[in-house]
Amino acid sequence: MAESEQLVSISSKVVVCTLCGLSKSRTHAVPGEGGDNSKLLILGEAPGRYEDASGRPFVGMAGKFLDKYLEAAGIRREDAFVTNVVKCRPPKNRKPKDFEIKACRPYLLGQIRSISPSLILALGKTACEGLDIDVDKLLQITGKIMKIKFGGEDFTVLAAFHPSFPMRFKSKRDRFLADLKAAKAYLDSVQS
Ligand code: URA
Repeated sequence: MAESEQLVSISSKVVVCTLCGLSKSRTHAVPGEGGDNSKLLILGEAPGRYEDASGRPFVGMAGKFLDKYLEAAGIRREDAFVTNVVKCRPPKNRKPKDFEIKACRPYLLGQIRSISPSLILALGKTACEGLDIDVDKLLQITGKIMKIKFGGEDFTVLAAFHPSFPMRFKSKRDRFLADLKAAKAYLDSVQS
């Protein structure tokens, strides 16, 4: 899981970042983790309590739920780079504000550029918004391969629910799994 110099440099900036007020309440910033040759980039919203405590993404309950469903879809988390739109925990896990998303954007864009993933799996509405994808109803776009421009470059994105949603609502789990399987099928189709 080698990280390129560029990724390491982004992470070292994130951990001391003071570009927005979230830096005042965080315990640890959470830059993200994974190899720079990952074909898949998994994008969440923001760190929660356990991520803030550990400095690692998706290690709390939503992360464990995600891990279980990734495995069921045949996706190895170790093969992905996992990060969030916003790198510091918002107080009481509130939704990140637009200016916080904007402040963090250069880090996200730098990570995406340096990894150049075949697919970005955007988990939830905030993840889509962080990529400048216009979301009216998330359900209308989940499970579909979308070609987007972000930071002036072309990327491929598949949106799925944020894991906390199917974790809470059992009836959403089949759809969540189907969307993760669609991500896996796309990755297999572009694998050389
Ligand atoms: N929720 C997220 O969106 N990201 C995390 O890292 C953890 C929970």
